[in-house]
Amino acid sequence: MPGGDGTQPAFGVYLHWPFCLSKCPYCDFNSHVRQAAIDETRFTRAFEAEIATTAARVPGRTVSTIFFGGGTPSLMAPRTVAAMLDAVARNWTVAGDVEVTLEANPTSVEAIRFRGYRTAGVNRVSLGVQALDDAALAALGRRHSVREALDAVAIARHAFERTSFDLIYARPGQTPQAWRAELEQAIAAAAEHLSLYQLTIEAGTPFAALHAAGRLEIPDGDQSRALYDTTQDVCAARGLPAYEVSNHARPGAACRHNLVYWRGHEYAGIGPGAHGRLDIAGERHATATEKHPESWLQRVEAHGHGLVTDEVLTCGERADEFLLMGLRLAEGIDPARFEALAGRPLDPERIAILREHELVEIAPGGRLRVTREGFPILDAVIADLAA
Ligand SMILES: C[S@@+](CC[C@H](N)C(=O)[O-])C[C@H]1O[C@@H](n2cnc3c(N)ncnc32)[C@H](O)[C@@H]1O
Ligand code: SF4
Repeated sequence: MPGGDGTQPAFGVYLHWPFCLSKCPYCDFNSHVRQAAIDETRFTRAFEAEIATTAARVPGRTVSTIFFGGGTPSLMAPRTVAAMLDAVARNWTVAGDVEVTLEANPTSVEAIRFRGYRTAGVNRVSLGVQALDDAALAALGRRHSVREALDAVAIARHAFERTSFDLIYARPGQTPQAWRAELEQAIAAAAEHLSLYQLTIEAGTPFAALHAAGRLEIPDGDQSRALYDTTQDVCAARGLPAYEVSNHARPGAACRHNLVYWRGHEYAGIGPGAHGRLDIAGERHATATEKHPESWLQRVEAHGHGLVTDEVLTCGERADEFLLMGLRLAEGIDPARFEALAGRPLDPERIAILREHELVEIAPGGRLRVTREGFPILDAVIADLAA
């Protein structure tokens, strides 16, 4: 039901707020720390302008999902969020059952703003809890404690119809037993959705430097696999099976915005460093805006948009992207859609070999999906199929 009423194709709007109070040592998202106060009024005007310019390129869409990501969107004043949502509604039709998610950091200061976000139109919150262990939170450079995070989760559950929170696992020294206990506690606190990410060492981050210097030891292949298996076992047993590599939900509670990406639908990217996929005159455009916040602001003020990339994808690129995104989902992909995009079918011999190794399977109805054995080596499976 992509558009909510089953008749409209899904269309998502992603809005990127690029500021944080401090930079976490593992994070390579487009997030920036500023000493001076952010001029939210000026940024709001720029967001409004870029929404209008984008809507002029893809008019007449019905927006089914809106996502405020970051950075830390929960640093925005509720009136800033309200102004951006108004701008979306002025430029496109908004579906009656639109999903509006805002990423929030789980501090007490931010929890105070939750009611204001709800009034502004946000109906789903995703909290960056990251760990339910105070020593791990400190090691991750987080500014909140476990108590503060759990309080924020409780306040969010009260304020919003739908909530989710993120945890990072496969942290230095983490055992499957400790992770199991943490996960049980998380599921007890969670409502309908959890995002569970394995710690990734991202190039250029302080964690990458520590890791290279031998001062940050992360779980090896076997240990990561044991932690992954624990994740799947505990979540499935407690009614939150994985619907995507890192995302778990009760039936019907998947994040509809992220499904827009993974199912290859259309979305607009607004704000510094936002990516979009727009269908214009039968072609798919891959767009990206200037990442540096103040440079983006100047571009939008001068030209009405901050676009630095606007490329038409070739059939092959579209088909590869469809595989890359779609095979992350437990539901897998429709091979016929790949064939329509690529102009050729997937290689039956490659599929046969992957099936023999029980890394992929054909579901009843013909969809191709990755198995539980295949997910830990998803990149290799996709590379093999795309070759
Ligand atoms: C845009 S970030 C977070 C939003 C919010 N600022 C926060 O930190 O709570 C989205 C999520 O990505 C995950 N993440 C970021 N960097 C990661 C890394 N290097 N490894 C694993 N997960 C990561 C975290 O769980 C984070 O909550
Ligand atoms: S993890 Fe979140 S709070 Fe930390 S720097 Fe990245 S975006 Fe900001």
